Amino acid sequence: MNSKRFKGKLKKQGPVSNFQQLKTEYADKYQIRLKEEKDINGIKKAGVLAINLLDYIEKQLRPGITTNYINSLVAEFTKKNNAIAAPLNYHGFPKSVCTSINDVICHGIPDDTILKDGDIVNIDVTPIVDGYYADCNKTFFIGNPGKDAKKIVSVARESLRVAIREAKPGKKVGDIGYAIQKYAEGKGCSVVREYVGHGVGNDFHEPPQIPHTGKKGCGIPLVPGMVFTIEPMINLGKHYLHVLPDQWTVVTNDGSLSAQFEQTLVITKNGYEILTPFD
Ligand code: MF3
Ligand code: CO
Ligand code: CO
Repeated sequence: MNSKRFKGKLKKQGPVSNFQQLKTEYADKYQIRLKEEKDINGIKKAGVLAINLLDYIEKQLRPGITTNYINSLVAEFTKKNNAIAAPLNYHGFPKSVCTSINDVICHGIPDDTILKDGDIVNIDVTPIVDGYYADCNKTFFIGNPGKDAKKIVSVARESLRVAIREAKPGKKVGDIGYAIQKYAEGKGCSVVREYVGHGVGNDFHEPPQIPHTGKKGCGIPLVPGMVFTIEPMINLGKHYLHVLPDQWTVVTNDGSLSAQFEQTLVITKNGYEILTPFD
């Protein structure tokens, strides 16, 4: 090609920013939609609502209530704030929230089950605000926790914390899983393989997948504008699981307790920002 002409053409098109270039590359190569400031602000708005919702629910948790009651609180709060509960009718999921008790790993369906003293319950919410999704969950104690409940909730919470430390440019998706696995297995617990974190924001579940086990230095490089969840599910016993006949509820095979914490975050130039902020 005539090099003079090539230069002229580039000039005419104007400079393409590094971010736009990266955006195209991540879309083509990984089907990952990197988010711009406008999108991030939208997701954060949904994220703040998600956290406010979890706080609101937490205050009303006590022995004697049913998970259906939690569902009605979530539905009512979401509606009052002009948001939509993403779980409702998602691939046929029948309720507005997932409520996962004790040996339920995830995707528990609210029903007439009564929470009792000593239970642990994970509450997973995903509001849609102005078309943007934010996904987060926490595991709560009902009444007074026993020794095992305290342990699994603590290990699950810390697993998310060590994972978030890996969230910065220069690291890869595999570093996140590696950090979780190393920590949780070091505490004698196990990490669920079949369910993973995920891209989120314009949709409930977007690429990439974020496994909670993995190899250091492997997988997709983390770059600014990536928005995804980290949501390690940690079992007190083995990691093996099965799905109940309702086709949603996921339980540990050995009946051991399982706990989970989830946040939505964005990779920034120097690290990360949590879009569903809680301690
Ligand atoms: N909130 C879950 C997640 O963290 C997904 C729930 S899907 C549902 O990805 F249909 F069960 F709501
Ligand atoms: Co999620
Ligand atoms: Co979730």
